[in-house]
Amino acid sequence: MTTVRTRVAIVGAGPAGLVLSHLLAGAGIDSVILDSRSREEIESTIRAGILEQGTVELLDGVPGSRARTVGSRHDGIELRFSGEGHRIDFAALVGRAVWLYPQHEALRDLIAARLEGGQDIRFGARVHEAVGADSDTPAVVATTADGGELHVEADFVVGADGSHSVVRRAVCGSHGGYFREYPFAWFGILCEAPPSAHELIYSNSPDGFALISQRTPTVQRMYFQCDPEADATAPSDAEIWDTLQRRVPGHALAEGPIFQRDVLRFRSFVASRLTRGRMAIVGDAAHTVPPTGAKGMNLAVADVVLLADALESLLLRGDATGVEGFDVRALTRIWKAQHFSWWMTSMLHVAPDASAFDRLRQLGELESVVGSTAGSTYLAEAYTGWPL
Ligand code: PHB
Repeated sequence: MTTVRTRVAIVGAGPAGLVLSHLLAGAGIDSVILDSRSREEIESTIRAGILEQGTVELLDGVPGSRARTVGSRHDGIELRFSGEGHRIDFAALVGRAVWLYPQHEALRDLIAARLEGGQDIRFGARVHEAVGADSDTPAVVATTADGGELHVEADFVVGADGSHSVVRRAVCGSHGGYFREYPFAWFGILCEAPPSAHELIYSNSPDGFALISQRTPTVQRMYFQCDPEADATAPSDAEIWDTLQRRVPGHALAEGPIFQRDVLRFRSFVASRLTRGRMAIVGDAAHTVPPTGAKGMNLAVADVVLLADALESLLLRGDATGVEGFDVRALTRIWKAQHFSWWMTSMLHVAPDASAFDRLRQLGELESVVGSTAGSTYLAEAYTGWPL
């Protein structure tokens, strides 16, 4: 058994854990990150790709971040319904933008920068328990890649360990949290084709929702609403293109070979509490949002900006008020993002049991957004992100 001592033990080398270690290092607070996955696995997992302006500004402080060079700035999105596109002009409405930069690319930048900065990251270390939340010496117990037992003793433990979080059990006990399931999922594809549009298209059609996103000049990412039980291997390429084209009526999509397909089930979740004594949970360990609002990684970053500040006060000045107030401050933003993600989802998808009334009301809702500066401004403000 090996014992390691650090100030902050961070479980999870995803966006939340890595950004937290970056912010803590900037304040002179050392940390150890543990993740059950290998570096290769973390860097190759395909996730969504929209970064809020505040997230990009924060990543500007990470040496070598390519968010602004490899990523591309988007000054608006298109909302499409009844066969017509309506641009939501972020620049004109709120003077802000988002960046399309896939999460795994951001993770590559973060891992490289943290390792270069001397960060201790234990890849392949599976944490099975977080203990001592109510003491001054919380710890995590892990099995390392080579089968050894590792204890990391710290002044504070942070669970940034995703939706199957181990640390959440120590923080929330049996109280879980607040859930919402949805009667649909997304069928996602990556294909070799030129972009079908310069900006993202969020399209509502009588057949259901589709999202046209991009990756590079030659690779595109697209999604369409499907049954949560759908089999990603079942439809042929021709059937997928037929579904996508029908879901974006009036806008021809550039087709090409599909080289990856997946079904993303979605749900909304907020943990019953985010802190307990000297432990906290952040990112997907604390909440999950459906992907329609593009909030996942941004919300994780917002959590750790607040937490880093609170930990700086606690660990450098012995002032616990930041940690004590963390739940209330973080949850205010989390519930706003939950609302926005739920709203975009319900406004754009067609529920399997939708009545004619529901369908016509939904079109009325979409008209209210695109036909009103107030309505469009709310969407632009929430999508580009409330200031951190
Ligand atoms: C993506 O490009 O993967 C993407 C973009 C916007 C979303 C979700 C996913 O809302």
